[in-house]
Amino acid sequence: MQIIETFYTKRLFAERLRFIHLNDLDRMHQNKQVMATLGGIRSDDETRLFILNNVHHWEQYGYGLWVFLDKINKQFVGRAGLRTTLVEGKNEVELAYALMAKFWGQGLATEMGEKILRIGFDLLGLQDIVCFTLTTNLASKRVMEKLGFQYERDIIHAGLPHLFYRLIV
Ligand SMILES: CC(C)(COP(=O)(O)OP(=O)(O)OC[C@H]1O[C@@H](n2cnc3c(N)ncnc32)[C@H](O)[C@@H]1OP(=O)(O)O)[C@@H](O)C(=O)NCCC(=O)NCCS
Repeated sequence: MQIIETFYTKRLFAERLRFIHLNDLDRMHQNKQVMATLGGIRSDDETRLFILNNVHHWEQYGYGLWVFLDKINKQFVGRAGLRTTLVEGKNEVELAYALMAKFWGQGLATEMGEKILRIGFDLLGLQDIVCFTLTTNLASKRVMEKLGFQYERDIIHAGLPHLFYRLIV
Protein backbone atom coordinates (compact mmCIF):
# COMPACT_ATOMS: atom_id res chain seq x y z
CA MET A 1 0.00 0.00 0.00
CA GLN A 2 1.27 3.46 -0.86
CA ILE A 3 1.73 6.04 1.91
CA ILE A 4 0.42 9.37 0.61
CA GLU A 5 2.22 11.97 2.72
CA THR A 6 1.40 15.00 0.56
CA PHE A 7 -0.72 15.86 -2.45
CA TYR A 8 -2.26 18.78 -4.28
CA THR A 9 -5.81 19.60 -5.26
CA LYS A 10 -6.70 22.42 -7.65
CA ARG A 11 -6.45 25.09 -4.94
CA LEU A 12 -4.86 23.34 -1.96
CA PHE A 13 -1.75 21.58 -0.70
CA ALA A 14 -2.20 18.67 1.74
CA GLU A 15 0.35 17.25 4.17
CA ARG A 16 0.13 14.39 6.66
CA LEU A 17 -1.09 15.65 10.06
CA ARG A 18 1.75 15.93 12.60
CA PHE A 19 2.64 17.74 15.82
CA ILE A 20 4.01 20.68 13.80
CA HIS A 21 0.35 21.52 13.08
CA LEU A 22 -0.50 22.07 16.76
CA ASN A 23 -0.92 25.87 16.53
CA ASP A 24 -3.23 25.71 13.52
CA LEU A 25 -5.30 22.91 15.03
CA ASP A 26 -5.52 24.76 18.36
CA ARG A 27 -6.86 27.78 16.49
CA MET A 28 -9.44 25.60 14.74
CA HIS A 29 -10.40 23.64 17.86
CA GLN A 30 -10.90 26.81 19.91
CA ASN A 31 -13.21 28.37 17.31
CA LYS A 32 -16.82 28.01 18.47
CA GLN A 33 -18.30 28.41 15.01
CA VAL A 34 -16.20 25.64 13.47
CA MET A 35 -16.56 23.30 16.44
CA ALA A 36 -20.34 23.75 16.91
CA THR A 37 -20.95 20.63 14.79
CA LEU A 38 -17.89 18.75 16.06
CA GLY A 39 -18.67 18.31 19.73
CA GLY A 40 -17.66 21.80 20.90
CA ILE A 41 -14.32 23.52 21.43
CA ARG A 42 -11.27 21.58 22.63
CA SER A 43 -8.52 22.67 25.01
CA ASP A 44 -4.85 22.64 24.06
CA ASP A 45 -4.45 19.36 25.98
CA GLU A 46 -7.38 17.81 24.08
CA THR A 47 -5.88 18.93 20.77
CA ARG A 48 -2.51 17.41 21.71
CA LEU A 49 -4.31 14.13 22.43
CA PHE A 50 -6.21 14.47 19.13
CA ILE A 51 -2.88 14.82 17.29
CA LEU A 52 -1.33 11.91 19.21
CA ASN A 53 -4.27 9.66 18.29
CA ASN A 54 -4.08 10.72 14.65
CA VAL A 55 -0.31 10.25 14.48
CA HIS A 56 -0.81 6.72 15.84
CA HIS A 57 -3.58 6.15 13.31
CA TRP A 58 -1.17 7.04 10.50
CA GLU A 59 1.47 4.67 11.91
CA GLN A 60 -1.03 1.83 12.29
CA TYR A 61 -2.96 2.11 9.00
CA GLY A 62 -0.69 4.09 6.64
CA TYR A 63 -3.33 6.78 6.12
CA GLY A 64 -5.24 9.28 8.22
CA LEU A 65 -5.95 13.00 8.29
CA TRP A 66 -4.11 15.62 6.26
CA VAL A 67 -3.77 19.32 6.99
CA PHE A 68 -4.74 21.53 4.03
CA LEU A 69 -3.06 24.82 3.14
CA ASP A 70 -4.02 27.38 0.56
CA LYS A 71 -1.67 26.72 -2.38
CA ILE A 72 -0.96 30.40 -3.03
CA ASN A 73 -0.42 32.00 0.40
CA LYS A 74 0.05 28.84 2.55
CA GLN A 75 -2.78 29.79 4.94
CA PHE A 76 -4.20 26.95 7.05
CA VAL A 77 -7.58 25.99 5.54
CA GLY A 78 -8.55 22.91 7.54
CA ARG A 79 -8.10 19.22 8.06
CA ALA A 80 -9.63 16.24 6.30
CA GLY A 81 -8.93 12.62 5.58
CA LEU A 82 -9.77 9.01 6.24
CA ARG A 83 -9.93 7.34 9.60
CA THR A 84 -11.18 4.10 11.04
CA THR A 85 -14.14 4.41 13.34
CA LEU A 86 -16.62 2.22 15.16
CA VAL A 87 -20.23 2.88 14.15
CA GLU A 88 -22.90 0.97 16.03
CA GLY A 89 -20.41 -1.83 16.72
CA LYS A 90 -19.03 -2.11 13.15
CA ASN A 91 -15.60 -1.00 11.94
CA GLU A 92 -15.84 1.54 9.12
CA VAL A 93 -13.49 3.92 7.30
CA GLU A 94 -14.86 7.44 7.51
CA LEU A 95 -14.27 10.52 5.38
CA ALA A 96 -13.85 13.45 7.79
CA TYR A 97 -13.49 17.17 6.99
CA ALA A 98 -13.46 20.51 8.81
CA LEU A 99 -12.52 23.93 7.48
CA MET A 100 -11.85 27.32 9.07
CA ALA A 101 -15.03 29.39 8.66
CA LYS A 102 -13.48 32.02 6.36
CA PHE A 103 -13.02 29.28 3.74
CA TRP A 104 -16.60 27.96 3.83
CA GLY A 105 -18.86 28.22 0.79
CA GLN A 106 -16.17 28.00 -1.91
CA GLY A 107 -16.44 24.31 -2.72
CA LEU A 108 -13.25 23.51 -0.82
CA ALA A 109 -14.64 20.66 1.34
CA THR A 110 -15.91 19.03 -1.83
CA GLU A 111 -12.53 19.57 -3.50
CA MET A 112 -10.75 17.91 -0.56
CA GLY A 113 -13.28 15.08 -0.43
CA GLU A 114 -13.03 14.28 -4.14
CA LYS A 115 -9.26 13.83 -3.96
CA ILE A 116 -9.35 11.90 -0.67
CA LEU A 117 -11.94 9.47 -2.07
CA ARG A 118 -9.74 8.85 -5.13
CA ILE A 119 -6.80 8.15 -2.81
CA GLY A 120 -8.96 5.84 -0.67
CA PHE A 121 -10.37 3.81 -3.54
CA ASP A 122 -7.60 3.91 -6.18
CA LEU A 123 -4.41 3.98 -4.10
CA LEU A 124 -5.38 2.46 -0.74
CA GLY A 125 -7.72 -0.14 -2.22
CA LEU A 126 -10.64 0.55 0.12
CA GLN A 127 -13.92 -1.04 -0.93
CA ASP A 128 -16.26 1.42 0.71
CA ILE A 129 -16.06 4.65 2.68
CA VAL A 130 -18.71 6.09 4.99
CA CYS A 131 -19.51 9.62 6.03
CA PHE A 132 -21.92 10.85 8.69
CA THR A 133 -23.08 14.12 10.08
CA LEU A 134 -25.46 15.61 12.61
CA THR A 135 -28.97 15.71 11.16
CA THR A 136 -28.83 19.52 11.50
CA ASN A 137 -25.55 19.95 9.56
CA LEU A 138 -27.03 20.71 6.15
CA ALA A 139 -23.77 21.98 4.63
CA SER A 140 -22.02 18.71 5.43
CA LYS A 141 -25.01 16.70 4.18
CA ARG A 142 -24.78 18.60 0.89
CA VAL A 143 -21.02 17.92 0.65
CA MET A 144 -21.68 14.18 1.10
CA GLU A 145 -24.31 14.23 -1.62
CA LYS A 146 -22.09 16.20 -4.02
CA LEU A 147 -19.38 13.58 -3.44
CA GLY A 148 -21.77 10.79 -4.44
CA PHE A 149 -22.43 9.24 -1.02
CA GLN A 150 -25.75 7.39 -0.71
CA TYR A 151 -27.95 7.76 2.37
CA GLU A 152 -28.03 4.48 4.30
CA ARG A 153 -29.75 5.11 7.64
CA ASP A 154 -30.17 7.36 10.65
CA ILE A 155 -27.82 6.53 13.53
CA ILE A 156 -27.05 7.70 17.03
CA HIS A 157 -23.35 8.55 17.28
CA ALA A 158 -21.72 10.11 20.34
CA GLY A 159 -25.22 10.24 21.78
CA LEU A 160 -26.56 12.46 18.99
CA PRO A 161 -28.72 11.84 15.88
CA HIS A 162 -26.67 11.57 12.68
CA LEU A 163 -27.34 10.88 8.99
CA PHE A 164 -25.18 7.97 7.86
CA TYR A 165 -24.04 7.69 4.23
CA ARG A 166 -21.88 5.21 2.31
CA LEU A 167 -19.97 5.23 -0.97
CA ILE A 168 -19.05 1.89 -2.52
CA VAL A 169 -16.24 1.68 -5.07
C1 LIG B 1 -19.40 21.41 6.52
C2 LIG B 1 -18.20 22.11 5.88
C3 LIG B 1 -17.03 21.15 5.85
C4 LIG B 1 -18.56 22.54 4.46
O1 LIG B 1 -17.41 23.09 3.85
P1 LIG B 1 -17.50 23.99 2.52
O2 LIG B 1 -16.14 24.13 1.98
O3 LIG B 1 -18.30 25.21 2.80
O4 LIG B 1 -18.37 23.00 1.60
P2 LIG B 1 -18.62 23.17 0.01
O5 LIG B 1 -18.50 24.62 -0.35
O6 LIG B 1 -17.79 22.19 -0.71
O7 LIG B 1 -20.14 22.71 -0.11
C5 LIG B 1 -21.13 23.19 0.79
C6 LIG B 1 -22.51 22.98 0.18
O8 LIG B 1 -23.48 23.09 1.22
C7 LIG B 1 -24.41 24.10 0.88
N1 LIG B 1 -24.86 24.69 2.13
C8 LIG B 1 -24.17 25.46 2.98
N2 LIG B 1 -24.93 25.79 4.03
C9 LIG B 1 -26.13 25.18 3.84
C10 LIG B 1 -27.35 25.16 4.58
N3 LIG B 1 -27.47 25.79 5.74
N4 LIG B 1 -28.38 24.44 4.08
C11 LIG B 1 -28.28 23.77 2.91
N5 LIG B 1 -27.13 23.77 2.15
C12 LIG B 1 -26.09 24.48 2.62
C13 LIG B 1 -23.65 25.04 -0.02
O9 LIG B 1 -24.54 25.84 -0.79
C14 LIG B 1 -22.87 24.04 -0.85
O10 LIG B 1 -23.68 23.39 -1.80
P3 LIG B 1 -23.71 23.85 -3.37
O11 LIG B 1 -22.30 23.69 -3.90
O12 LIG B 1 -24.70 22.95 -4.00
O13 LIG B 1 -24.13 25.31 -3.37
C15 LIG B 1 -17.80 23.37 6.69
O14 LIG B 1 -18.95 24.17 6.89
C16 LIG B 1 -17.18 23.05 8.03
O15 LIG B 1 -15.98 22.86 8.15
N6 LIG B 1 -18.01 23.04 9.10
C17 LIG B 1 -17.53 22.78 10.46
C18 LIG B 1 -17.02 21.37 10.65
C19 LIG B 1 -18.00 20.32 10.18
O16 LIG B 1 -19.21 20.44 10.40
N7 LIG B 1 -17.47 19.28 9.54
C20 LIG B 1 -18.28 18.18 9.07
C21 LIG B 1 -18.59 17.27 10.17
S1 LIG B 1 -19.57 15.91 9.60
